[in-house]
Amino acid sequence: MRKNLIAGNWKMNVNHLEAIQIVQKLSYRLDVADYERVDVVVCPPFTALRSVQTVIEADRLAIKLGAQNVDWHDSGAFTGEISPLMLQKLGVSYVIVGHSERRQLFGETDEVVNTKARAVLGAGMTPIVCVGETEEERDGGAAEAKVGSQIRESLAGFDPEAIASLVVAYEPIWAIGTGRTASADDAGAMCAFVRDQVREMYGEAADSTRVLYGGSMNAGNVAGLMAKRNIDGGLVGGASLDPDTFASVIRYWI
Ligand code: PGA
Repeated sequence: MRKNLIAGNWKMNVNHLEAIQIVQKLSYRLDVADYERVDVVVCPPFTALRSVQTVIEADRLAIKLGAQNVDWHDSGAFTGEISPLMLQKLGVSYVIVGHSERRQLFGETDEVVNTKARAVLGAGMTPIVCVGETEEERDGGAAEAKVGSQIRESLAGFDPEAIASLVVAYEPIWAIGTGRTASADDAGAMCAFVRDQVREMYGEAADSTRVLYGGSMNAGNVAGLMAKRNIDGGLVGGASLDPDTFASVIRYWI
């Protein structure tokens, strides 16, 4: 009942010309059956959104457009920021909110993440809310405590109707960009825990919330991760920059 979702997070990589090429090459490697099985999302840097949107529209691709960050105001004197309405106007349907790099390097708190996620929903887009523990927290047995509090605070006060369409990405920080993946069992257990936390807050709507795993997901480990009942997809960094590799991740069952 939950459609799989695999999103490529390109981070601060690729200019708009490279982005066009990646999307075109990716589209050559995917067919209708793939899109029926998986919602395919690419999240380029802001500077490439318009170019990628144009390719998607011109070629009528079923690839969906995502952004990596957003401000929560509609408009105003916020130099350097981008508003939800600007993204929505560009055909963006998903926005990553609270990625651990934003939390760690740019000081985003759960409160900021909450405000951003609600602004994304308010503009008719879907937030991909990221949570995850550090290596110290995992080694100290505090992974659930950390992720539980991130869920409670980042998702507090949402319209219950929005919960079913929400996407949460569990991304253990020690697995991001390190080549170290959480084992499928650990990742599955944490994604189940995430869903349980959402269920405690919002009831059975949590059964429709899609929970992704992220952290060094690649063509070699995706099938084992996707076999877990509570993992509905992936947020893929490094492995999404190469269209061949990303297509293999998306077609994980082949
Ligand atoms: P990675 O990044 O796949 O390169 O580990 C994942 C992410 O940061 O979303």
